[in-house]
Amino acid sequence: MKPTTATRVFALAAALLLTGSSPAAAQEFQWPDEPENLEVLPDTLGPDGLRRTMGHFTEALGVRCSYCHVGEEGAPLSEYDFASDDNDHKQAARVMLRMVEAINSEHLEQLEHEHQGEGHAQAGYTLPADREVNCITCHRGTDRPAMIEDVLAGVIERDGVGAAVKRYEQLREEYYGSFAYDFTVGPLSELARNLATRGQTDAAVRMAELEVKHHQESYRAHFVLAQMLDQAGDRERAVESIQRALDLAPDEARSFLQRQLERIRGG
Ligand code: HEC
Ligand code: HEC
Repeated sequence: MKPTTATRVFALAAALLLTGSSPAAAQEFQWPDEPENLEVLPDTLGPDGLRRTMGHFTEALGVRCSYCHVGEEGAPLSEYDFASDDNDHKQAARVMLRMVEAINSEHLEQLEHEHQGEGHAQAGYTLPADREVNCITCHRGTDRPAMIEDVLAGVIERDGVGAAVKRYEQLREEYYGSFAYDFTVGPLSELARNLATRGQTDAAVRMAELEVKHHQESYRAHFVLAQMLDQAGDRERAVESIQRALDLAPDEARSFLQRQLERIRGG
């Protein structure tokens, strides 16, 4: 019978009680006092600093140690070769470390007063004076930080608009409520308009429809769909959409929408 995790943990605890140490404990992963192969991070980091830095990397990118290091996912960390450079992601992370270092020390430094709180105080809030750009500032829990509209534009170009709709639903399922992608009303409408200016009106309508599907109560979403349908030559549905927008719109937007409705009706 395969031992469960609980029985294994129990067996290990029992062995430790009996002997004070065990072969398993001796092999447990330890953060090195003297890392062998640091090219960017300071040697003075110490085991604790290294643990915190690597912890930040995994959290910021939403990955595990094996993403950057040589070692099998699921294997004990003591079997990893952390000093090895045989993983392209580790090299990419070094490029990123140097970039972050340059942003913080060469560029943010130039904004001295903003950076030190005065600018924020004017804006009605203050931030810690030592605030810096970090991996998570851009990555926000993904290994390839990108705006949702750019991700979808790429999918449309390569695999068509149907695949892009699927991708959006998948990403929404996976990341909704996290800060990796913006699922609020806006990005899909923006993408729809960009597609329309390039003459891809079918794809534009599909993206505007997707926006409406997830933001039924947004008059803006219905208005953008109306514009896209109008451009695609579907006047009847364009009129329906703009009427829906009118139902939902606040007073200050109504006269504008009314004019748009008359324009579309007039052809
Ligand atoms: C995003 C990539 C990335 C992730 C994820 C990552 N590391 Fe690293 N790690 C690096 C880089 C890059 C270095 C080398 C830094 C340098 O050259 O200054 C490094 C160095 C190390 C070292 C020092 C090795 C030596 O002796 O030179 C250890 C130990 C280590 N990482 C452990 C871990 C552990 C454990 C995890 C998971 C909790 C982890 N790392 C996750 C990129 C990563
Ligand atoms: C200024 C924004 C920014 C910051 C800060 C940043 N990154 Fe990146 N990172 C990017 C972008 C953009 C890409 C490229 C995404 C792509 O190719 O689609 C990237 C790519 C990567 C990749 C390669 C992913 C791949 O597909 O090969 C790794 C690894 C990585 N970053 C690690 C880090 C680490 C570790 C830090 C912190 C030390 C960091 N990044 C900080 C923007 C940033």
